[in-house]
Amino acid sequence: MNEKLKLLLEKAQTETENALSTRDLQDLKAKFLGKSGEITALMKEMRNIPPEERSSFGKLVNDLKEEVANLFSIREKTLKDKELKEQLEKEAVDITLPGTKQKMGSIHPLNIVKNEIISAFAGMGFEIFEGPEIETDYYCFQALNIPKDHPARDMQDTFYIGNDIVLRSQTSTGQVRVMENKKPPIKILSPGRVYRADDDASHSPMFHQCEGLVVDKGVSLCDLQGLLNEFVKVVFDKETKTRLRPSYFPFTEPSVEVDVTCSKCHGKGCSLCKGTGWIEILGAGVVNKKVLENCGIDSNEYSGLAFGLGLERIAMIKYGVNDIRTFFENNVKFLKQFDRR
Ligand code: DAH
Repeated sequence: MNEKLKLLLEKAQTETENALSTRDLQDLKAKFLGKSGEITALMKEMRNIPPEERSSFGKLVNDLKEEVANLFSIREKTLKDKELKEQLEKEAVDITLPGTKQKMGSIHPLNIVKNEIISAFAGMGFEIFEGPEIETDYYCFQALNIPKDHPARDMQDTFYIGNDIVLRSQTSTGQVRVMENKKPPIKILSPGRVYRADDDASHSPMFHQCEGLVVDKGVSLCDLQGLLNEFVKVVFDKETKTRLRPSYFPFTEPSVEVDVTCSKCHGKGCSLCKGTGWIEILGAGVVNKKVLENCGIDSNEYSGLAFGLGLERIAMIKYGVNDIRTFFENNVKFLKQFDRR
């Protein structure tokens, strides 16, 4: 019997040595010490042993059990250490490798220009007003003294959503909405999206405008030029000058077209300004008395000035962009050129 125990011990020794992973070792442990393991089975043989030998046999089996359990725990420690070492080696991070760069977004050129315009006028006391993009015919046209047959109302230009509902074609709508609700003095700037059925290198069906309105006692065309002179210095450069040319808009009287000295050649004449030295940047004028009256403002007591500019146009001149569509294509290479960080 002793021989059998000795063989079992030797078997346990070789097999634990041969186990190469903690998982194999666990299976092996069950094979020797588990419920139906070989050593447990020895205990069951007890009943076949003569009573006087039982106690010494029991002791031998217990010693064996202890010794085998010891073998397992020693081997288990060795294998655990080995596995941990392997895992650490496998998961090691090479801290000398260059990191993955996080790409940062940048401000869209149209927003850069919009922010500059806002900051120029905010500095002169203007408040921001943002009106709705879906407008009634009244706010978009009638109140602004644009009669039914005016070309700006042509179905080809304006997106009609219903009989009297349009996608606003100009931010001048903001003038009416403000004047209806606020008594003079008024000084507002109204930036926002506008829509026209037009699509080529210099027109987009959706683009941005910025409307300006001042209403107070004694406001004149001179005030308009003074304001615009300040504004062009912020958006272009300190040397930029303005020039007013007579024009026509139904909502202003007199009306003017405003030019700036060419930002590329500074007035000498180049391809950008078609040799004239001047570039047209916006429409403006003295608010038509009819518009003031439409909004409940006494035109004998108050007068106003208004101007409206296209953000894309300003950005195209400022940055030398020759196709308006590039602003809306979201080509990162194009947009990154305006990243000033
Ligand atoms: N609303 C005009 C347009 O979209 C621009 C404009 C011209 C606005 C003259 C004005 C103005 O306030 O006085 O073409």
